[in-house]
Amino acid sequence: MSKTLQAIRGMNDILPGQTPVWRYLENTFAELLEGYGYQEIRLPILEFTELFARGIGEGTDVVDKEMYTFRDRNEESLTLRPEGTAGCVRAVLEHGLTGGGQVQKLWYAGPMFRYEKPQKGRYRQFHQIGVEVFNLPGPDVDAELIALTARLWRRLGVADAVSLQLNSLGSSEARARYRDALVDYLQQRFEQLDEDSQRRLTTNPLRILDSKNAQTQALLAGAPVLSDFLDEESRLHFEGLRNRLDAMGIAYQINTGLVRGLDYYGRTVFEWVTDRLGAQGTVCGGGRYDGLVGQFGGKPTPSVGFAMGIERLVLLLETLAVVPETLEQPAHAYICAFGEAAELAAVTLAERLRDALPGLRLLVNAGGGSFKSQFKKADKSGARFALILGEDELAARVVGCKPLREDGEQQSIAWDALAERLSACVEQAQHNACMGKE
Ligand code: HAM
Repeated sequence: MSKTLQAIRGMNDILPGQTPVWRYLENTFAELLEGYGYQEIRLPILEFTELFARGIGEGTDVVDKEMYTFRDRNEESLTLRPEGTAGCVRAVLEHGLTGGGQVQKLWYAGPMFRYEKPQKGRYRQFHQIGVEVFNLPGPDVDAELIALTARLWRRLGVADAVSLQLNSLGSSEARARYRDALVDYLQQRFEQLDEDSQRRLTTNPLRILDSKNAQTQALLAGAPVLSDFLDEESRLHFEGLRNRLDAMGIAYQINTGLVRGLDYYGRTVFEWVTDRLGAQGTVCGGGRYDGLVGQFGGKPTPSVGFAMGIERLVLLLETLAVVPETLEQPAHAYICAFGEAAELAAVTLAERLRDALPGLRLLVNAGGGSFKSQFKKADKSGARFALILGEDELAARVVGCKPLREDGEQQSIAWDALAERLSACVEQAQHNACMGKE
């Protein structure tokens, strides 16, 4: 027997039982963003490899170890996007959306791909919802992005389980000066560093700051700190952001070790973290990347954004038991039909009802079956009413309407009156007045 086909490790199917919570998250987020004046952008999943190598940076884990890269039939090197920022910057540049200092406030959602070690909250195909803003240089927009995420946590009912970590990485010059000082300090203690950090000392020394190794962390306690190297403009920018967060009552912790794993950041960086998900506790991360558009050949364009992991948010909603109970909408009615003539009448009646009531959720029995089996299926479907069409109903041009979720006798309703009677259910205006409980 042939081996059962399986999905690739770390790439999950999102089954029908899970899609309602995904849609709930996506819809809540889209609605919130539209309320703040953000517009959706949809971007390709595949890009030229060079985009990520240049954008995210050689020497980062994402580029060096985690990309799904292959050659297409034309020998071009392509990569499945590991994140959304680089592609978004490419798109706004390619279409001139930021020319003349135009402000863009954009959001996107979709799958991202990283060859990481799969575990709870960490997958090889995962999904992000992200936001990118262009041509707004001040801390006001950094604060808006954080306020917007804080509002999302409140709407989702997870605000008490997440906290905000904040840092400023300063200008690229300040970072370069800091990097030299840090390398100098760690070089003298090279032997005490863990293996990963020893490697990073030449490739990406700032990433050593968020090493999980206890001995390395102990060494870092005496290391120079980035905040002492901040340039004046970055210091003022950070102060402006903190003042706004304070004014809005948004709590945060300054974490001088927060550097983020992608090279494009400067000045503001932030993460929303939770302690309820184990090791993969970052649900949202972002920051300013004022240099990236210029690096891609565009005019210098202030840019800032963030992305959140949908899988981690779904896990968080489930862990905290705050998934709304009403996400799955059962059908309004289920038509049972007995005999070929009734089946024919059922499908034509169903299509007429759908014409009249576009919001109607109507199931029509398929595959025949006895009265008992069709009625069982109607009940199992969760529908509120069974609409019964047998020989007698057909002759009288009526349906028998039997409530399935509440007590009540079966009543006869003329086909011509059915749409009007069902409309009350569709509008859900008066739940109990639905279907003839005058
Ligand atoms: P990131 O921190 O690499 O940033 O990813 C953002 C979020 O995506 C993480 O906080 C996490 O929730 C989720 N995530 C990342 N990797 C995985 C994974 N393997 N499995 C499950 N979830 C994951 C970025 O991607 C930046 N592009 C964010 C940004 C936008 N910065 C500025 N603009």
